[in-house]
Amino acid sequence: MAVPKRFCLTTPIYYVNDVPHIGHAYTTLACDVMARYQRGRGAEVFFLTGTDEHGQKVEKAAQTKGETPLELADRVVKRFQSLWEKLNIDYTDFIRTSQERHKVAVQEIFRVIQARGDIYLGEYEDWYCTPCETFWTETQLMDGNCPDCGRPTEKLKESSYFFRMSKYQEPLLAHIEANPDFIQPKSRRNEILSFVREGLRDLSISRTSFSWGIPVPGDEQHVIYVWFDALTNYISALGYPTDPDGNYASFWPCDVHVIGKDILRFHTVYWPTFLMAAGLPLPKKVFAHGWWTVEGQKMSKSLTNVVEPNMLIDKYGVDAIRYFLLREVPFGLDGDFSHTALVHRINSDLANDLGNLVSRSTAMLSKYFDGALPAPGPLAEVDRVLQGRFAAVFTQVDAQMNELAFNKALQSIWEMVGAANKYIDESTPWALAKDPARQERLGTVMYTLLEAVRLIGVLVTPFMPETGAKIAAILGRDPAVVQIDGHTAWGGLQPGTLVAKAEPLFPRIEAE
Ligand code: MSP
Repeated sequence: MAVPKRFCLTTPIYYVNDVPHIGHAYTTLACDVMARYQRGRGAEVFFLTGTDEHGQKVEKAAQTKGETPLELADRVVKRFQSLWEKLNIDYTDFIRTSQERHKVAVQEIFRVIQARGDIYLGEYEDWYCTPCETFWTETQLMDGNCPDCGRPTEKLKESSYFFRMSKYQEPLLAHIEANPDFIQPKSRRNEILSFVREGLRDLSISRTSFSWGIPVPGDEQHVIYVWFDALTNYISALGYPTDPDGNYASFWPCDVHVIGKDILRFHTVYWPTFLMAAGLPLPKKVFAHGWWTVEGQKMSKSLTNVVEPNMLIDKYGVDAIRYFLLREVPFGLDGDFSHTALVHRINSDLANDLGNLVSRSTAMLSKYFDGALPAPGPLAEVDRVLQGRFAAVFTQVDAQMNELAFNKALQSIWEMVGAANKYIDESTPWALAKDPARQERLGTVMYTLLEAVRLIGVLVTPFMPETGAKIAAILGRDPAVVQIDGHTAWGGLQPGTLVAKAEPLFPRIEAE
């Protein structure tokens, strides 16, 4: 299990013209679990998230509400930040593209690429909706009309700066081919490979039709195209170009950009070619997860089926939601959110399996030993088998985490929960307790069981930090300790420790 010394990971930056829903919560949560896991393994972690605030949509939304774009952004940013707090997201930095540090970086990277000859002034031709003052590409049109208002569009030309993306087709292909892990999962990699093989066109990277954005250095009529602006957040937050020796030097290239499948092309074609043109290193990995539907339907504001994460957390508890989102669907595939599935997971995996394990174990310890942990005596075969499985699970979970296979890691952990529950049934402490001659054996069983609970607590902590802390506190340990490394070896609990009788960790949910 090689421990990286440093680990840098990012979420996409979220648009402020939408309010946060479970789709956004999903990406951020996955990153938080990974960040906590890497910190637990002893790495110094930089976990970046933030908001994407520029562009015509925000400008327009603000206009209709009678506020400035920045006022709108300030309002919506708070909703993201308060949700992250509620979801227990422990990020390192929150970048807003309206910040000065970001503007400086975007203009610098633009200037560098321009100076190297890969940005030129040309003409951009597309379909324009005059009432909406918006350009649309051919594929965005609805029967030739504006997809927003439905009115006819006309072909118009606008002066625009272009990025010579075509020049980077071969270098990008070579990079993807030489780095099989660069784009994950594999199916996404194949999708991008065939897209790039079909040829890359130069990309229009400025607009003159709106003003809420970062001006092109030296030509203030033009605003830099939102994706050129947005993608640069990954390095502006690290201090590029003003502090090249600080976080930028320590954490770039980042270990992984975690994104949804819809923004894969921007991250694996546009962003790497911008970086190549600027002479900067490429991210080590881009991982695209799938999309959530809700009760079988696409989440959409008009269908009013957007799942509101604040409400879910209030109702079911933060750890239950964290568990469900990462357990229910393999990371990388699409999934469906349904209340039935959520309640089922809470009742079976959390209340029955984990919750009962902790309450049964501590209740028996309290009944048979007044809560004082006995020292283990000689081991029986069942004890050795259980210990052996715990010795193996950390390596297994580590491999799964390195592949961002969160659901598999949780499956492995729940196999241990199952093994510990089975251990109770097999070693029958209630029968041992009736026979004074078997007191030592009962002590060994209770020690083994509580040690299993401790290790499960260590394993679940990155996924369910509150639950991990509760388990630690029950076992008389410091709930603030979230280290994994150094705490995986069997025998961490000191005999004599006073263990509290646990309150149920997860109350059962009655079907509505
Ligand atoms: N602002 C851009 C990203 C710029 S990154 C340099 C953006 N923002 S977004 O707010 O629209 O989306 C952010 C993320 O939320 C994306 O990764 C997207 O895949 C994810 N999701 C939005 N809806 C989703 C679901 N229904 N399900 C899962 N994830 C979804 O794109």
